[in-house]
Amino acid sequence: MRVRKAIIPAAGLGTRMLPATKVVPKEMLPVATKPLIQYVVEEALDAGIEHILIITAREKSSIQDHFDRDANMENFLKKVGKADIAKMMSDYLPETGAITYLRQDERLGLGHAIWCARHWAGNEPFVILSPDELLMGEQNCTRMLMDSYEETGGLAIAMQDLPREDVVRYGVIAGTEITLKSGQKVIRADQMVEKPTVEEAPSNHCIIGRYVLDPGIFVHLNKKLAGAGGEIQLTDAISAQLATRDIYGVLYDGERFDCGKRIGWLEANIAAALRSEDLKQDMRNIIKKYANNS
Ligand code: G1P
Repeated sequence: MRVRKAIIPAAGLGTRMLPATKVVPKEMLPVATKPLIQYVVEEALDAGIEHILIITAREKSSIQDHFDRDANMENFLKKVGKADIAKMMSDYLPETGAITYLRQDERLGLGHAIWCARHWAGNEPFVILSPDELLMGEQNCTRMLMDSYEETGGLAIAMQDLPREDVVRYGVIAGTEITLKSGQKVIRADQMVEKPTVEEAPSNHCIIGRYVLDPGIFVHLNKKLAGAGGEIQLTDAISAQLATRDIYGVLYDGERFDCGKRIGWLEANIAAALRSEDLKQDMRNIIKKYANNS
């Protein structure tokens, strides 16, 4: 079945980024020229996704405002001779009706946030994109997962091999490497653990916030079982499907920034500026200036 839907969980508190996130949702923090959440919306649309559900929460209505058209501002900009900026204000907007919003009313974890989408998902498979994880590689990671799902029918989860000491902050996948018809190497999962200790971790294949799942996940999320950190964990619900479902870990080796952390977000700003035609030369000079002074 073709994947047409995407869920973007954006209800988290962003405590690791306080005080920057006291008033501004972490998903609305800018990375170079646009807010973080715009990157994942663009990644989903570029991959061919048609409908996006953003899971939000109280105090996060600025996300909705960002994807709404501001006709007054556009008209004003045109009137004062800034038609190019007016165009930038509407160019990134998906077609009307492509984004739906839903509020998570209790912060019980990522698994619970996804459970909130059960009625919206209906009988279709869907992608999940975590806005904290900014992926800037050549290949569209969401598209890679959709290709894997469409070829194998198995659930697909993006992963990256990270240093052993980092596994404690991630979901970890272990299994056997196989090669798909497309040539893509994947891990057929036989074990998944959320935030293991370094000793317990069955591998260093870490989950990086992109998934293709299907409504089978809701059977497990409905049980509302608390896992690591007392939260309802998505990894646990996927892991509960291992006995009945093929699950593949797809290795993404493109550049990745963990924007839920201060240093990851700062690095992403530099990397994104260096990729922007308008900003790259100035940014190179700034980097040189500070590198020489330190
Ligand atoms: C969540 C997932 C985890 C995954 C991580 C990627 O954890 O539960 O499996 O590895 O996102 O960013 P969180 O960062 O919300 O604690």
